[in-house]
This record gives sequence, C-alpha cells and structure tokens, in this order.
Amino acid sequence: MSTSAEHRVFCESIDLDSKRIPKHVAIIMDGNGRWAKERGEERVFGHINGINSVRSSVEAALLTGVRYLTLYAFSTENWSRPKEEVDALMDLLVSTLIKEVEDLESKGVRLRAIGDLTTLPKACQDQINKSIQSTKNLDALDLVLALSYSSKWELVEATKQLMKSGVNPDELEASHIEQHLATSGIPDPELMIRTSGERRISNFLLWQLAYAEFHFTSVLWPDFGQDNFYDAVRDYQKRNRRFGRLLDTTHTMSK
Ligand code: FPP
Repeated sequence: MSTSAEHRVFCESIDLDSKRIPKHVAIIMDGNGRWAKERGEERVFGHINGINSVRSSVEAALLTGVRYLTLYAFSTENWSRPKEEVDALMDLLVSTLIKEVEDLESKGVRLRAIGDLTTLPKACQDQINKSIQSTKNLDALDLVLALSYSSKWELVEATKQLMKSGVNPDELEASHIEQHLATSGIPDPELMIRTSGERRISNFLLWQLAYAEFHFTSVLWPDFGQDNFYDAVRDYQKRNRRFGRLLDTTHTMSK
C-alpha cells in the first residue's frame, strides 16, 4: 500500500502535481466492440481485452493516490444488446472477480457496486456480494463498479425514496437527494474520462458530474493503459476549475 510520500514521489516522476490529484475519477469504458472488429474478432474479444485496461486504471489510481475510481461496466441500456453478448459480459464479470479479488485485497482495494443489482444473474450478484464483503475494510482505493446502472434509474429511485419518506417539498435540499443516490457517501468525481472518441455522458452520474472536468480520448478502451490515465490527469490539472465563480479577484462589477 502506498503512502502519501510514495504518491508524491511517483507523481513527480511522471510530471503530475501530487497536490492536485483528483480524489475521484469516473470512466466510461468505450470502444471494446470496435477494437475487436478492427481485429476481425467477435465483440466479446474486446470486452475480454478491456479487463487489462481495468487493471491498468486501478494500478494508475493506486500509484497516483486517486481515492475513488468508478467504472461504467454495464448500463441499464446494455440489457438490450444481443443475449450472447450480455451473457458473455456477465460471465466475464464473475470470472474476473474470482480471479482478481485476492490481488485487489493485497493492494488495499475496496470493491463497491452501484446500480440495480437485483437485475443481475444470481451468480453475478453472489460473486459481487462476496467480493464486497472480503474487501470492505480496505481503504487504499474504492473501486466502484456501475452495473445495470443508469442515472435516470438512480434519480427515479431516489425520488421514490424521498416521496416515501414524506419529506416536505418546501424543505427539500440537494443534500436530501444526495443521501438517496447510489453514490451516497462517495465524493463527486472531479474528472470523467470517456474513451473511443465519443463525446457523450450516456446516462452516467448525471447529478454527480455537475462540476466534473471531462477528458475525451480517441483511444479505444482495450488500448487504454496507465500512460493514458496519467495523460487524462495531466489534462485535468491544466483546467481552471471555477464552479461558476470568478477566481480572478481583479474582476469587479465595474469592469
Ligand atoms: C463499451 O464498449 C463497453 C462495455 C459495454 C462493457 C465494458 C465492460 C468491461 C470492459 C468489462 C468490465 C469488467 C469488470 C470486471 C469491471 P462497446 O461494446 O460499446 O464498444 P463499441 O462502442 O466499440 O461497440
């Protein structure tokens, strides 16, 4: 497990400011199908190879000191893909968790999941719960898998819970909604990365990304390695984050 001094030394070695590492990075892993097609292979070949990029991103997050990494692994909309692809993705999820969980544990990675997990096959739910249980006390990195997730689903669920709680509409505040989101207790991502050249948010963390910086890269997900992750963080560190305010104090009403 790395200490903050180790994070600092590592960040300096790759020209990153260790004081401005995003606490939470969210990734839309896109381009697996195209990557496979370019090689004359079935789409699932791209998903299998995408696991290497998951590993690289976890490693890069651990080395730089990113504390939360959220990966959009399966959206609500992905259920409408051909059955063979959905089944292959579910199998891949189970086999990857079985294979990787010990390594994740040894690195201090705590696994979490957001989404409508009840819609996943039982074997998948069982393996996710098992992996969540065995890593629940670790704190080097929270790896959050978004599974059968969509933001609109999450917001509808939050609204249902709020209505059932009998909250007075006139007293409703943003914090009440946040408490009922699947990400409750997790800070909002400062950086969102999407691979494969697409520039959409695709029903992913709509509320939580309100002030995130977006990094779009044409790299297809299975080709996304540690250096691409550092490039995204370097890009983030060049941004001037104002949160709707004016940071330049020389601005006055008369200017
Ligand atoms: C998008 O590429 C990718 C997905 C829908 C699945 C991503 C899942 C993985 C990489 C496996 C995750 C597993 C774990 C354990 C986290 P696409 O199929 O939409 O590609 P395309 O746009 O080129 O068709």
